[in-house]
Amino acid sequence: MSSDEPDRIIHADNLAVLPTLPDGRFTLVYLDPPFNTGRAQTRQSTRHVRVAATDDAAQEPGSAGAVGTITGFAGKRYERIRGDLLRYDDRFDDYWGFLEPRLVEAWRLLADDGTLYLHLDYREAHYAKVLLDALFGRESFLNELIWAYDYGAKAKRKWPTKHDTILVYVKNPSAYWFDSTAVDREPYMAPGLVTPEKAELGKLPTDVWWHTIVSPTGREKTGYPTQKPEGILRRIVQASTREGDWVLDFFAGSGTTGAVAATLGRRFVLVDENPEAIAVMKGRFTDVAGVVFEQGPTGR
Ligand SMILES: C[S@@+](CC[C@H](N)C(=O)[O-])C[C@H]1O[C@@H](n2cnc3c(N)ncnc32)[C@H](O)[C@@H]1O
Repeated sequence: MSSDEPDRIIHADNLAVLPTLPDGRFTLVYLDPPFNTGRAQTRQSTRHVRVAATDDAAQEPGSAGAVGTITGFAGKRYERIRGDLLRYDDRFDDYWGFLEPRLVEAWRLLADDGTLYLHLDYREAHYAKVLLDALFGRESFLNELIWAYDYGAKAKRKWPTKHDTILVYVKNPSAYWFDSTAVDREPYMAPGLVTPEKAELGKLPTDVWWHTIVSPTGREKTGYPTQKPEGILRRIVQASTREGDWVLDFFAGSGTTGAVAATLGRRFVLVDENPEAIAVMKGRFTDVAGVVFEQGPTGR
């Protein structure tokens, strides 16, 4: 893939497509996987097995070790942490069994200055954080972003849960690209406390992002049920990529990541296995020149 290759939208199981993409190609991988529904997901051969303790340093980072095991990229005993955590919660075991081989591929596909954004809900985020620390290395953890919104029914017997979590990991903590000044500024909460010039300019966002969901009547709405707002993806793409960089989203849904990437002059590859997602993206990208739709391998 080079700069003269087209932006691609591929209809396939992502696990079948990822091995066909080149190492280190993407500056940004944004993933918004389906939340854990409790159903057993398709497992891969990397399902965890208990292994006798071995010397961490004896294995290459990210390499497959004893049958079906993966050593964390930072050479930590990922397997041991995973074994403990997944034994504790069977439901999450299924979910991680689905995500893990895809995250391993995401790591391979990231450029040395690249960044992974993993969008989760509050039921998964804490387990995923522990496992990603072990898999990517704690020093590769950059941020836990909270996207807060205020919409829909409110629970009466607990604090209504109105946020998603986005975990951010970099491939190389000493080489990653991040430009907070490239991000759209937002209004100060208390503009009276800063100078009029500052209030006019707005402030840089922090790790808590107040942003409405996609408005049911707004311009952005595609009708895809899990569509994320362009404003959230815009910040991510602006901060973690430069013009011309390649962006990958292999749980693409309605294609929000690609739509934002195209607007900002970035290149993209999107993958989704759901024909409805592909149909929605065909409509969404009608006016974007040079996008190629492909039927990928099914992998199942
Ligand atoms: C939460 S949605 C993503 C929504 C997207 N961020 C947006 O803004 O529209 C998750 C998507 O992952 C897709 N998906 C789930 N498993 C997949 C797989 N194995 N391969 C490819 N796509 C998959 C689903 O079809 C769904 O469209």
